[in-house]
Amino acid sequence: MRHLLDPTDLSTQEVEQIISRALDIIEHREQYAEVCKGKKLATLFYEPSTRTRLSFTAAMMELGGEVLGFSDAKSSSVSKGETVADTIRVVSAFADIVAMRHFKEGGPRVASEYSRIPIINAGDGGHSHPTQTMTDLLTIRREIGRFDHLTIGLCGDLKYGRTVHSLIKAMNRYEGTRYVLISPEELRLPDYMKQELHDNYIEVQTLEEAMPLVDVLYMTRVQQERFADQAEYERLKDSFILDEEKMKLAKSDMIVMHPLPRVNEITVGVDKDPRAAYFRQVENGKYVRKAIIYTLLQWKEQELLNQPETFTTTSLCHNDRCISVTEPVEKKAYVDREGVTRCFYCDHEL
Ligand code: NCD
Repeated sequence: MRHLLDPTDLSTQEVEQIISRALDIIEHREQYAEVCKGKKLATLFYEPSTRTRLSFTAAMMELGGEVLGFSDAKSSSVSKGETVADTIRVVSAFADIVAMRHFKEGGPRVASEYSRIPIINAGDGGHSHPTQTMTDLLTIRREIGRFDHLTIGLCGDLKYGRTVHSLIKAMNRYEGTRYVLISPEELRLPDYMKQELHDNYIEVQTLEEAMPLVDVLYMTRVQQERFADQAEYERLKDSFILDEEKMKLAKSDMIVMHPLPRVNEITVGVDKDPRAAYFRQVENGKYVRKAIIYTLLQWKEQELLNQPETFTTTSLCHNDRCISVTEPVEKKAYVDREGVTRCFYCDHEL
């Protein structure tokens, strides 16, 4: 079964498929108003989030589906000590698809190992945030029109920012992507991520240096919740602030993106600049999540369709290593694509 845990779980063709679906949803909203009727999305948010959770909720509602879940680990059975594995086994019985945010890296990956329904990673620690990345890609497509040969400025918290890490993984697959990294020393991109960039990046000390170079400026918040030392957060939080003066140094057709929430790394004066794309980006997030939910549910249905139908049989399996020979299980069979009747348990011809 397909899950969406990391942006690279999707091939570039599948990324295209989902972007095209999102564009079609934008054009023909009413045609999608009931496509998830009778389906339920469980939003399991172990870490607080307003934006992403509401975006998923709105997306499912606009597809005609329903939403259940929790928005805080404290209000769920997690506070009683339940593991992710057990929670997901239970939730698999109540919902058709899950959006999970977890403060631990790999939380959604564990869930996928035990789940009977598709899992969408809605952000795990500093690791990955694939639906934000799909939001970012849809925004770049709608604003700039292409993914290749773009110079992307990444500014702010490059150490803990999962949106940055995910975006790099996705953009690295397109030709000619270059990066300009702008961050305080202490919040630099981790080495394991830098390796993914090969030689296609430069690091600069100021936003002023970066402004004339970039096609996309991706601003991020310094994430207070990821700091053990609050004094360090206070010292770093205002390191790089984008304002109207700095915007004057940028190309006329560049765009400014931000996954939001913004703290004060972009002054409100920038909001009215037509190149400020971050509020349009939020809206794209809803459309792309609609496309992702719809596509994953479709893929699941196709898998079920591709599975051959089984039926009970009186024929005994002649494979003496088959469990149906030694244990009193119901004798079951299926007909494969070549028309051969096979044992359901060991696939031997009957
Ligand atoms: C981001 C996140 O949660 O990683 N926000 C989001 O998904 N809208 C960025 C952030 O919290 O700074």
